[in-house]
Amino acid sequence: MDAAERRIELCQATEVAPGSVIKVEKEGLELAVFNVDGSFYVTDDHCTHGPGSLSDGFVDGDVVECNFHGGCFNIKTGEVVEPPCTIPIRTYRAEVENGAVFIFA
Ligand code: FES
Repeated sequence: MDAAERRIELCQATEVAPGSVIKVEKEGLELAVFNVDGSFYVTDDHCTHGPGSLSDGFVDGDVVECNFHGGCFNIKTGEVVEPPCTIPIRTYRAEVENGAVFIFA
């Protein structure tokens, strides 16, 4: 659909420990990079509910809890799993190559 899809290098995989998340700002995007059991997932960093930053949230398996009002999203799909959030978070296709995490945006 998007002919101008870009492949963007975000960080080194070793910067994101299993079960954790870091914030990465690249090319105008503010992103949360998650390591779920050694697999990498990337979402927008801004919570869809308000001013929360998901990279400041709490990761539990494949769910991230926003530390602002406690809303939760599925890290892999972006779906809301706990209110008060109602709008899914945007997710990005991610891959690891030569130890670096990339997304397609
Ligand atoms: S800002 Fe994230 S739950 Fe309200």
